[in-house]
Amino acid sequence: MSTDIEQSATVIADRAPGVKPTVGLILGSGLGSLAQVVEDPAVISYADLPGFPKVGVAGHAGQLTLGEISGTAVAVMLGRAHYYETGAADVMKTPVRTLREIGCETLVVTNAAGSTDEATGPGSVMLITDHIAFAGPSPLFGEVGNNRFVDLSQAYDPDHQSALRAAAHRLGISLAEGVYMWFCGPHFETPAEIRMAQAIGASAVGMSTVPEVILARHAGMRVAALSIITNLAAGMSALELSHQQTMTVAAKAAGDVQALLTDFLGNYSNS
Ligand code: HPA
Repeated sequence: MSTDIEQSATVIADRAPGVKPTVGLILGSGLGSLAQVVEDPAVISYADLPGFPKVGVAGHAGQLTLGEISGTAVAVMLGRAHYYETGAADVMKTPVRTLREIGCETLVVTNAAGSTDEATGPGSVMLITDHIAFAGPSPLFGEVGNNRFVDLSQAYDPDHQSALRAAAHRLGISLAEGVYMWFCGPHFETPAEIRMAQAIGASAVGMSTVPEVILARHAGMRVAALSIITNLAAGMSALELSHQQTMTVAAKAAGDVQALLTDFLGNYSNS
């Protein structure tokens, strides 16, 4: 009996023959427009991919698109599952490992996040340079073997960070950067938690990304990650926090993320 990863890889090989992606992308809330610029797309519903999650959050479509962006073969995941949906931190294990199995050497992750820094307001794009896994669990619980002890000291690939800074410079897009702090959700944080996040060096807070990054590093992939700042974090503004606001602001700033990633992919090399 083959594994979910092998079966999903077989479905992908059947439905997107000849596509050999080198970069996998996971697109967060309101960031789906990048999937529409994939050339010669083959679109596969997660429902047809064993072990891929049922996507239950508005703004997350649940489709894998294979093809090319700016000359780089890509596998774009439109929609992810979150730890808060079922309490399983490893819910993205099969998708991330399937991306690796079909040839992806790099994983690019995007998300929507709240900013802990007043200077980086809604609509800003932030390069993630490091993270704090405050939610707690590891997606690698239950793994065996010494490679489960993954070194995360350069989890966000320094060369990919430089490439994204260069892309932002070329495009005239102002790119903030900082540490992403993973909270479990689905509730937003309290103002006291945000004061703690500020005190310990977090620039943004969110409910995703970190499990996928750990899974990707465990699988030997290089990682790049961007946040769209959709709001100032709890207690920093009079606005009530809501998922609707997250999606609306993310969709407005999605053009900058799309431009950055299109440029990044156009200049992509694994050297
Ligand atoms: N907190 C957590 N997750 C988020 C936020 C936030 O303020 N904004 C968008 N996703």
